[in-house]
Amino acid sequence: MFKIVEFSHFLITEFYQKNKEKYLTFIDATCGKGNDTLFLAETLNHNGTVVAYDIQEEAIDITKRLLLKNHFKNCIFHLSSHEKILEENFDLIIYNLGYLPGSDKTITTTANSTLNSIKLVLSKISNKEDYLIIIVLYPGHENGLIESQIIDDFCYHLPSNFYLVSKYQNYNRLNAPYIITISKNKKSLVNHSKLMIN
Ligand SMILES: C[S@@+](CC[C@H](N)C(=O)[O-])C[C@H]1O[C@@H](n2cnc3c(N)ncnc32)[C@H](O)[C@@H]1O
Repeated sequence: MFKIVEFSHFLITEFYQKNKEKYLTFIDATCGKGNDTLFLAETLNHNGTVVAYDIQEEAIDITKRLLLKNHFKNCIFHLSSHEKILEENFDLIIYNLGYLPGSDKTITTTANSTLNSIKLVLSKISNKEDYLIIIVLYPGHENGLIESQIIDDFCYHLPSNFYLVSKYQNYNRLNAPYIITISKNKKSLVNHSKLMIN
């Protein structure tokens, strides 16, 4: 069986396979040690744009070095919170929440900043024909539990006629990391630009 992070990569590959005829932009909203950013770059294989965000210089440096080592030179880096996503046109975004492994655990994603970011992303992406938002949540520690409950609740209440929200979880390990994805409900004919997310 897949580990949860491997499963997020499986979802990225599936999305890529369905959309590879287009010029794609993939965003890593929390680049950390760069493993997800590298996977995004490998998936696009120089045929699209990869963008990476993190609030820690250390994370941006580690990720830059990892990508260069693997000969990916054209990734865009923002030392900035994902609450301020600058890109207007992108296809997939992954949030691997929590703290930088092996570093200061108090510098972590928070329910507030993650929620603000997801709302911003939805306002930018909902009009696209196809998109994928992947959120990897970690309820196994105190802050992660609060964050996952708040994000879970927000996603659960997204209108089903516009959004397809899915949850991937080990059924018998409820404290283990899990994934929520948000994608377009393609049956919807409503103009998403009119949709307000509060
Ligand atoms: C679990 S790590 C990400 C793992 C990473 N994707 C990887 O493959 O190694 C979470 C990262 O989120 C970053 N972070 C925390 N708050 C953030 C925010 N508001 N915007 C962007 N990054 C943030 C942390 O600095 C940390 O590096």
